[in-house]
Amino acid sequence: LIFDDPAEMAHRVARRIATLIEERQAVDQQAVLGLPTGSTPIGVYQELIRMHREDGLDFSNVVTFNLDEYYPMDPSSLQSYHRFMDENFFNHVNIPADQIHIPRGDIPPDAVERHCVEYEHEIEKAGGIDLMLLGIGRSGHVGFNEPGSGRQTRTRQVILDEITRKDAASDFFGEANVPQEAITMGVGTILDCDEIVLMATGEHKAPIVKRAVEKPPSREVTASYLQDHPNATFYLDRAAAGE
Ligand code: GLP
Repeated sequence: LIFDDPAEMAHRVARRIATLIEERQAVDQQAVLGLPTGSTPIGVYQELIRMHREDGLDFSNVVTFNLDEYYPMDPSSLQSYHRFMDENFFNHVNIPADQIHIPRGDIPPDAVERHCVEYEHEIEKAGGIDLMLLGIGRSGHVGFNEPGSGRQTRTRQVILDEITRKDAASDFFGEANVPQEAITMGVGTILDCDEIVLMATGEHKAPIVKRAVEKPPSREVTASYLQDHPNATFYLDRAAAGE
C-alpha cells in the first residue's frame, strides 16, 4: 500500500490495530501485538495514544512482545528500547505491566541463551502473535535479523551489521559507542505471526524496499522472507516506494 502522506499511513495502521483490539474485546480475548522501535512507528504510537485519550480505546486486553533490544543495554539508558517504548507508548496507554515483554539487555552473557528460549516460550504461552508491526533497517533487517539470518531462526543473540551501527551512531553520540550485539526475535518467530505490517518511509529506504519486495527471498535481505508469508503487507510512503 502506497500513501501520499506518512500521517495517513500511520492512521491506517493504528486503525488496523484498534480494530483487532476491539474485535478481541468483543469475545473476551487478548490481542497479542509484536512491536518495533525506531522512528518509523512513532506516528502509529501517537495515533494509538490519541485514540486511548480521546476515543477511550481500551488496552487492558493487549499483550505485547517487542522485537529486539541492544546487548548489553541497561533498561534505563537513553538508547534502551525499554525506555523508548515507555516514553513513546507504554506510559501513555493502559496495557497492564505484566502483559508487556521486551528482550532484556541487562542480563549476564551466560543467561542470554536461556532468556531467549524463555522469550519464545512466553510468546507460545500467549497463543502466538496476532499482529506484528515492523520497520526495516537499511541493511534489510527486520528486528535485528541482519543479512545472513536464516528463515528458521528464533529469538537469539546476534552481531549487528555495520550499516545498522552507522545508522544508530547519532543515538549513541558516535558509532564507537553503539553496542556490537543485540537480542532479536528470529525470522522464524516473525513468520509465525498471523499478520505482518511492515512500514517504511523516506527516500533512504527505497533501495532496500525494492530489494525486499522484488528480488527473490534470500538471507541477504531478511525482509524479503515476508514474500512467503500469507498475510504480510508493506505500508510505504511515496518516497520509500520510489524505486
Ligand atoms: C532499528 C530497529 C529496527 C527498525 C530499524 C529502522 O535497527 N532494531 O526494528 O526497524 O531500526 O529504524 P527507523 O524506523 O528509525 O528507520
